[in-house]
Amino acid sequence: MRILTYATARRAAAAAAALVLEHLAENPRLVLGLPTGNTPIPMYGALVRAYEQGRADFSKATTFNLDEFVGIGRGDRGSYREFMNAVLFDHVNLPAARAHMPDGRAKDWRREIDRYEERIVRAGGLDLAVLGVGGNGHLGFNEPGPALHAHTHRVALCAETRRANAYLFGGRWQDVPTHALSMGIGTMLTAAHVVLLATGANKARVVARAVTGPVTTRLPASLLQVHPDVVVVLDRDAAGGLPPRRR
Ligand code: GLP
Repeated sequence: MRILTYATARRAAAAAAALVLEHLAENPRLVLGLPTGNTPIPMYGALVRAYEQGRADFSKATTFNLDEFVGIGRGDRGSYREFMNAVLFDHVNLPAARAHMPDGRAKDWRREIDRYEERIVRAGGLDLAVLGVGGNGHLGFNEPGPALHAHTHRVALCAETRRANAYLFGGRWQDVPTHALSMGIGTMLTAAHVVLLATGANKARVVARAVTGPVTTRLPASLLQVHPDVVVVLDRDAAGGLPPRRR
């Protein structure tokens, strides 16, 4: 894992955006995995600015978001679809038909998870997966546990994760859906390149465990250690738990 540490969260986000832009310039047909969360908001801001300044062209790109809550979607408060519209999709020239997300409102979720996975396969898999990490080590909504799913699946969210997402639902964790559809760890790990962005002191412990601890399904982010091309982009606070030679 290559670790890049920056003085501030803003600089780290700008560095993650620069990596995305590099990949996009090299391959305009980039197939990109995208995260939600507070952490990537300034990264999306940097991508929008790059587009507005004529430094980015998303017209041939394809994106697959990592996850969505079950029961909500386009037009719904708290949905990741609306989050993505607000921070990126409404502001760049990515064709709407190629901005994929699992459909949380699908009547038949079993069909939906198969359909989502199939779309990723048909697109040729992810060229670049941009990931965030939950405080409990989850990637997308792959929660810690005795086993993980390789492919897109339905997941029961743990209380900690529902609390962490309450900001999308007016601060009421009880309003956060109990389930989500998430891309699986296997699909993330078959991305050609991975960028993990983490900022803030509250991520220091999980980052240290993910980068230097044992590889375990009890900390899904630790599985990134087995991937051959991961860049971990941190701010100084998130790097705080790493041994000095790895910061
Ligand atoms: C959610 C998302 C994850 C994201 C995590 C961290 O649970 N499903 O993909 O990595 O939040 O969010 P934040 O950046 O707000 O800490």
